[in-house]
Amino acid sequence: LQTPGAVFHLFGATGDLARRKLFPAIYSLYHEGKLSEDFAVVGVARRPRTNEEFRDDLYQSIQQFCRYKIKDENEWARFIEHFEYKSLDINDVNGFRELRQQTESLEERFNIPGNRLFYLALAPELFGSVSSNLQKGGMLDSKGWHRLVIEKPFGYDLESAEQLNKQIRQVFEEEEIFRIDHYLGKEMVQNIEVIRFANAFFEPLWNNKHIANVQITLSETVGVEDRGGYYDHAGALRDMGQNHMLQLLTMIAMEPPSRLHAEDVRDEKVKVLRSLRPFRSAEEVRDNVVRGQYVAGSLRGKKLPGYREEDKVNPNSNTETYFAARVFVDNFRWAGVPFYIRTGKHLPVKTTEVVIEFKSMPATVYLGQKHNLEPNLLVIRVNPMEGIYVKLNAKRPGTESDIHPFAMDFCQSCLIGINSPEAYERLIHDAARGDSTYFTRWDEVAAAWSFVDYIAEVWKQGAGDLRQYPAGSWGPKEAHKLLEQDGFHWWPVN
Ligand code: BG6
Repeated sequence: LQTPGAVFHLFGATGDLARRKLFPAIYSLYHEGKLSEDFAVVGVARRPRTNEEFRDDLYQSIQQFCRYKIKDENEWARFIEHFEYKSLDINDVNGFRELRQQTESLEERFNIPGNRLFYLALAPELFGSVSSNLQKGGMLDSKGWHRLVIEKPFGYDLESAEQLNKQIRQVFEEEEIFRIDHYLGKEMVQNIEVIRFANAFFEPLWNNKHIANVQITLSETVGVEDRGGYYDHAGALRDMGQNHMLQLLTMIAMEPPSRLHAEDVRDEKVKVLRSLRPFRSAEEVRDNVVRGQYVAGSLRGKKLPGYREEDKVNPNSNTETYFAARVFVDNFRWAGVPFYIRTGKHLPVKTTEVVIEFKSMPATVYLGQKHNLEPNLLVIRVNPMEGIYVKLNAKRPGTESDIHPFAMDFCQSCLIGINSPEAYERLIHDAARGDSTYFTRWDEVAAAWSFVDYIAEVWKQGAGDLRQYPAGSWGPKEAHKLLEQDGFHWWPVN
């Protein structure tokens, strides 16, 4: 499906996200024929740059980060002529007036019907003034559609998110706002829906009668790298919990939507968020949420410094680089089923994995025999490996009934290699086609903040001990106790 003709305005065009993700995504879409020829891109940033320099940036970024390398010079020439650069100060409306003229001439040149997409790869503090200057500068006066695509973090808590939303809503309608959570653009996250709703043997079992618990792990091997300034203010709960983790949880827990329309899917997701059992006291938070911070350690032979020694991090920081929680979705389907979620920096493996643990079969038939009757598992691997596997019990060949678990494995990434489309390709393509299914709606964002805010507040008051874990380990041992208390354990990730 090709995108309709449009001008893409990319604010933050000299930044890291543009270089690593956005330029490569646009090129991949073009290369695959998903971007129609009547498009143009204006890279916008403060730094002065000529069109030639900007095009050179693109070339470098694509050669370095894109899953397709530029091989055909003619194709490259056709592609790159659609790109221009505009240097402006986002607080000065005059720059936006000039941008309008530049946009109009691109629209004329490439025969584009006035559709305009504004991608803000910028700090959220700037969303408000950019939106307002887009309006004042006449950028929204064209006859086509206008869409605003924004990056996380969407606020710091519910209150700041509300303010931010108010600012952009003064200019854009909710339907015109595309809030990115790049996890929703990942192939396997989208596949959760298909696995659940297109297979006869999952949906009937997808409830508290058959599922014992759900485990969601988003582990990272990297530390805070050069983002100490941002991260020390945010922490794992805000950086990964409020968005990616709760979004994954909603995809696992939501009811089947009546149709696969954006609003139907998002209605179901927001119902899950509203059904999350809120914590009501510091004690409840302490009993159900573990927070940790890495201290010096090592990973694969490499020595790693502690979090408090990282660049731009307060040496007395109490910011968590890890958290694990036991949460409940208090609705008919999930009553009583714990969802264990965990995420952290400097853990032993980079992986995103969801494990659905089914309730055990009564072992009566095999009593007294040599067996190892483990529960059935459905494991959804989101990244970097993509696929699913099911753990079943079967008889070991040559024995009478020596039972062992084995895996039935569907490895998507093994089949198509690493060439799976990047999340940003999918998301830019969707935004340009006006499909907001995999973007977060305001009520989802707000519900997620309400849930997370209480935990953050309790921690701020000093309750909920900050546990240390050596960099390169699986986090504080208290995170294991959370499951042991319920008679479970974290299944090892692969
Ligand atoms: C980002 C977080 O949203 O997601 C980062 O801000 C994190 O801290 C990143 O490293 C992880 O994304 P991915 O796609 O590499 O799993």
